[in-house]
Amino acid sequence: MAFPATWLDLREPADRQARDGALLQKAATAAGPCPLIVDLGCGTGATMRAMSGLLPGGAHWRMVDSDPDLLARIPAGDGITLHPGDLGDQARLPLDGATMVTASALLDLCPAYWIADLAVELATRSLPFYAALTFDGAMEWHPELPGDAAVTAAFNRHQQGDKGLGAASGPEAATHAVELFDAAGFVVHSAPSAWQLGPDQRELQVELLQGIATAAAEAGCEATKTWLQSRIAAIAKGACRVGHTDMLALPPRAA
Ligand SMILES: C[S@@+](CC[C@H](N)C(=O)[O-])C[C@H]1O[C@@H](n2cnc3c(N)ncnc32)[C@H](O)[C@@H]1O
Repeated sequence: MAFPATWLDLREPADRQARDGALLQKAATAAGPCPLIVDLGCGTGATMRAMSGLLPGGAHWRMVDSDPDLLARIPAGDGITLHPGDLGDQARLPLDGATMVTASALLDLCPAYWIADLAVELATRSLPFYAALTFDGAMEWHPELPGDAAVTAAFNRHQQGDKGLGAASGPEAATHAVELFDAAGFVVHSAPSAWQLGPDQRELQVELLQGIATAAAEAGCEATKTWLQSRIAAIAKGACRVGHTDMLALPPRAA
């Protein structure tokens, strides 16, 4: 599944605003005095940028993604290495020597088995895991419009389709991740990190609505075209909330 850099650029300020600040700070601390962080599904490096001011100087990053166009936008060198590859093969993840693993806007694309395997692997290595901005299935608009609930339900069904690693966790990812990392022995902290979008974020909202409508139509929802037109028309005087969850899983030694 491809994520255009234009979409990642568009969402990054909203993501930055939505991240739970206390959890982000706690994650930066958990990375230790000489951080070597492996960012899974790094895209163009949003998590690295979000954490950069909070880490001690000299932090190293290993950026893992299957999309070479996104990796090409990351300035490699100076402690940053690029690792093109598929996350499906967890045995090949560059985890040796790492002090922390991160991800953002990724877990809802991943099947429960993949999250469970990752939890076991990171527990074996006693590595903290910071996973931000996992979509939780909740979308609300004001004013409400007919079709909101049906489109949301269809979109969430679509989110549970195969995004490359098998049937994705979609809206259940955040809950699954907390349970699976807890079961693997981590001390798990989580916090809401919803997007709260207003008329000022029109471009992001239009792109978001188009993506939702396309996915909902693919999942069998009818009348998404009318819904999309009405929703776009309502942006100027409305508000939108998209639910996300941030999670920090700490191995017992770091909790
Ligand atoms: C929604 S984007 C998030 C990107 C970035 N973490 C951010 O917050 O802006 C999901 C990222 O995961 C990557 N990705 C998805 N499935 C993957 C897989 N199986 N192997 C490697 N990367 C994958 C995509 O290429 C994309 O960069």
